[in-house]
Amino acid sequence: MKVALPLALLATSALAAKSSLSSVQRVTNLASTSGRFIVEVKEASDIPSKREALGTPHERVYHSLRERKISFDVTKEFNSPGLFLGAAITLTNSDDVANVLNTEGVVSIRPVKTYKAPKPVSSKIVSPGDKGLPDSESTHVVTGVDKLHAMGITGKGIKIGILDTGTDYTHPFLGGGFGHGFKVAGGHDFVGDDYTGSNDPVPDSDPLDQCNGHGTHVAGIIGANPGNPFNISGVAPDAVIYSYRIFGCESTVTDDIIIDAMLTGVKDGMDILTLSLGGASGWTEETASVVASRIAASGKIVTIAAGNDGDLGSWYASGPATGLETISVASSDNTVIPLQSFTVEGVTHDPIPYYSVLPLPIDGPKKLYAISKDSTVVDDACNPLPADTPDLSEFVVLVRRGTCAFVDKLANIAAFGGNISLIYDNGGGLASIAVGDFTAVLIPADDGTFLADQLAAGASIDVTFPQVGGAVTIPAATGGLVSSFSTYGPSYDMYFKPAITAPGGNILSTYPTTMGSWALDSGTSMATPFLAGSSALLLAAKGKSVAVARSARTLFESTAQTIPSSLTDGDPLQTVAQQGAGLIQVHDAIFASTILSPAELLLNDTTHFAGTQKFTVQNVGKKIKTYTLSHVPAGTALTVDSGMVNSGPVPLTSDSATVKFNQNKFTLLPGQSHTVVATFTPPKGLDASTLPVYSGFIHATSGNESVHATYLGLAASIKDAHVVDDTDFVFGVDLPVVLDSVGDVQDVPVNYTFVGDDAPTILWRQAFGTALLRLDLVSADVAVNTTLNSRGLPWFSFSRPHNGGTFAKVPILGSLLEFDYLVRNDLGDNLDDTVLMENTFANGTVIPNGSYRVLLRSLKVTGDPKNEADYESWLSPIIGVAA
Ligand SMILES: *[C@@H]1O[C@H](CO)[C@@H](O)[C@H](O)[C@H]1NC(C)=O
Ligand SMILES: *[C@@H]1O[C@H](CO)[C@@H](O)[C@H](O)[C@H]1NC(C)=O
Ligand SMILES: *[C@@H]1O[C@H](CO)[C@@H](O)[C@H](O)[C@H]1NC(C)=O
Ligand SMILES: *[C@@H]1O[C@H](CO)[C@@H](O)[C@H](O)[C@H]1NC(C)=O
Ligand SMILES: *[C@@H]1O[C@H](CO)[C@@H](O)[C@H](O)[C@H]1NC(C)=O
Ligand SMILES: *[C@@H]1O[C@H](CO)[C@@H](O)[C@H](O)[C@H]1NC(C)=O
Ligand SMILES: *[C@@H]1O[C@H](CO)[C@@H](O)[C@H](O)[C@H]1NC(C)=O
Ligand SMILES: *[C@@H]1O[C@H](CO)[C@@H](O)[C@H](O)[C@H]1NC(C)=O
Repeated sequence: MKVALPLALLATSALAAKSSLSSVQRVTNLASTSGRFIVEVKEASDIPSKREALGTPHERVYHSLRERKISFDVTKEFNSPGLFLGAAITLTNSDDVANVLNTEGVVSIRPVKTYKAPKPVSSKIVSPGDKGLPDSESTHVVTGVDKLHAMGITGKGIKIGILDTGTDYTHPFLGGGFGHGFKVAGGHDFVGDDYTGSNDPVPDSDPLDQCNGHGTHVAGIIGANPGNPFNISGVAPDAVIYSYRIFGCESTVTDDIIIDAMLTGVKDGMDILTLSLGGASGWTEETASVVASRIAASGKIVTIAAGNDGDLGSWYASGPATGLETISVASSDNTVIPLQSFTVEGVTHDPIPYYSVLPLPIDGPKKLYAISKDSTVVDDACNPLPADTPDLSEFVVLVRRGTCAFVDKLANIAAFGGNISLIYDNGGGLASIAVGDFTAVLIPADDGTFLADQLAAGASIDVTFPQVGGAVTIPAATGGLVSSFSTYGPSYDMYFKPAITAPGGNILSTYPTTMGSWALDSGTSMATPFLAGSSALLLAAKGKSVAVARSARTLFESTAQTIPSSLTDGDPLQTVAQQGAGLIQVHDAIFASTILSPAELLLNDTTHFAGTQKFTVQNVGKKIKTYTLSHVPAGTALTVDSGMVNSGPVPLTSDSATVKFNQNKFTLLPGQSHTVVATFTPPKGLDASTLPVYSGFIHATSGNESVHATYLGLAASIKDAHVVDDTDFVFGVDLPVVLDSVGDVQDVPVNYTFVGDDAPTILWRQAFGTALLRLDLVSADVAVNTTLNSRGLPWFSFSRPHNGGTFAKVPILGSLLEFDYLVRNDLGDNLDDTVLMENTFANGTVIPNGSYRVLLRSLKVTGDPKNEADYESWLSPIIGVAA
């Protein structure tokens, strides 16, 4: 049986190309406008001693702020010298941001960022009556965890802090209790059940999760005790868990709480912190990413989900997994897929699988009716059904796949009252399918043909959908491949994101006892605790030390197993931008008798090409070894098409880099090491405008042992990436635009009162990330050459002769807004950026009545913020302020 990608696991929104301008919200959607910020302050040692009398570094900054008449409230203080010193503050006047930044002792100020609750890509409650569920053995076997358990390596003595929705520690297989001596030995609830991300958290000391389930599932992947009805076990069942609850029952969380929880985990002595959460970022500089990275650099292992945005294409790395020293974890699919089955009466046949993780909610047996009894019909139900078709409401309808859309067939069936359909495959492959509001599932071709042929022969067939006990597993066609939902990097600054893959698709684990006790979930959220558990095994086996913790990512990466892009022979390996260094092999990482370091070769783009790379191969075994080097390229990802980032799955080509070594073969005595010099040449002949990300692996092989370095580069200059969408692709009008008080495109001068809805909204899309976005107010008759669509040019008057025309020479009347490190927009939930203009400058000063334009500038990646030529720019039509 052929089983295709489980498409239902993908967000479908990305497929909608056009959107309506009337759907654009006339608000500022860019970042928190709540006036909440995180301020980092300088360490005591970095502050001139004359100010020491003023107390702690925090107090000194507060004092300076008060001196400058800046009104603020402190909502949280961070005090972890060496990691992060600062505070979460609310500014009475958001316009004071620039003033805070210019205050002595302040390192940075960033808006508080919101992260969504970690939602599994799919989730299914299961019960012990269900047959054939994938046990955790399948994931343990493919990663070598089973071998470590057999050796008695189970994570004893290692402490793992989980930042999530809390844990149902009352679960009998998660220890049944909380506190010293229990599996879940500690933790904290930073938020309370009712926290939504926008109200005030109500913290307490009890991180119990009995209303969400995500954190309980994560905890089981790390630590579920064996001996349970499903015969599953955690990766590190003897590790100690601390549960840091940072989400309410259903919610988002702000990064000040994430940072607080991470720093608390460090203070509590955690060896490992794991975060199955995140949001699209692309930049390594986000506040939570930076703090996570510093914690990792200090000698903790920090594992963070790579994200579930694979359908949105490349350049979408999720933060805080973008933190440089963290381990960003991608997901691979389990080797089996759990589906449901129905039974038939009237003919003799085994239960027939259908593509749904949950049983169809249909009571009792129902008669089967075939739209066509000819099992070779190609366009079954593509046309309105004949008038003599019976009332189909009491039937289960059998229809063959082909020719028209599933929903067209189902609409024709619904015209006669039919609303439960079994669509039998015609060779397209078994998958989850889009059926709109209808109840319909795909079944295998041979089973459907059998049923149609039996009906043709005059049989009467009844179909029953068992509500319990109907689960079956089929081998997953995608088993072992990178999950299609797993987010693609790299980061905009060309770092490896994700770092490595672990099993995350179709994972069975614990669930709150109030919610069914067990569930099957999919997501990088599930892969991340697998890596945290693996890290505990590594620390338990090699001994806890800063050096071992710092080497973990390299050991995991260099021993991982490379993952193909499909199971078809001859297809290239999956791009490193989605798989990282490959599927984790925990036993090999711990017991490898060869150590290769560094495991990541970052070749950067063509402008900053780092084509000569060095890595060391060390024989840590007891025997002399001869190593042979070999190069295995991965598919080159064509990440962009016509200025727009391609949706996933990102197309791959077999073009590849070439590499030469100083020596192809070398022999090492025990303890000896050799430095390999590898000289790369990027793939040739590719269209640079597709931003081709090339990648691959350099293996050092001795006998049956092989370790590898993983490389990644861009066969283009990233500065050439188009950063602002100037097409009409999404809204049917060339962007950017100004929307007037009723949401229409403004292309003549308009005066606004800035009362109620009477204000302009600037609408644009970031086609690519930008490290700096500025909106400045300029005079209506400004003389300036911009790079993008200038709507309203007829009213554009060059009042002065053009004088060499850089923006630096453009008089700016004042700044309206400035944002750093913006992620690109996508074709899903993050469709556009909007700013609802106010009649004030960024610093709060009122803009006098008059005629103006808005100049939008977006810095190209790697661009110099001081060089106007490094921005893409756009000038608005005339905006009159009459307030
Ligand atoms: C349970 O798992 C163990 C390995 O962890 C395996 O040896 C045993 O056969 C499994 N038992 C059942 C009933 O599947
Ligand atoms: C089909 O049945 C489902 C489940 O009862 C219902 O939600 C849906 O509205 C029905 N659709 C149509 C088109 O009748
Ligand atoms: C690539 O080059 C840019 C520009 O110099 C730099 O900012 C970035 O950190 C580099 N990336 C890597 C992975 O070295
Ligand atoms: C690798 O080869 C060595 C020596 O030939 C042998 O002892 C060992 O079992 C082999 N390991 C594997 C995984 O095949
Ligand atoms: C905007 O107001 C100015 C000043 O009152 C006036 O000169 C101009 O004609 C107005 N423009 C429009 C388009 O109404
Ligand atoms: C600005 O535009 C004018 C008119 O198209 C052109 O002649 C001039 O070269 C441009 N200047 C720059 C710096 O691009
Ligand atoms: C605010 O910014 C405007 C425009 O740059 C400037 O004219 C004004 O002096 C500033 N006000 C303060 C209080 O700094
Ligand atoms: C600005 O223009 C508005 C509308 O014409 C007017 O009501 C207001 O008094 C003007 N403000 C000033 C300071 O002139």
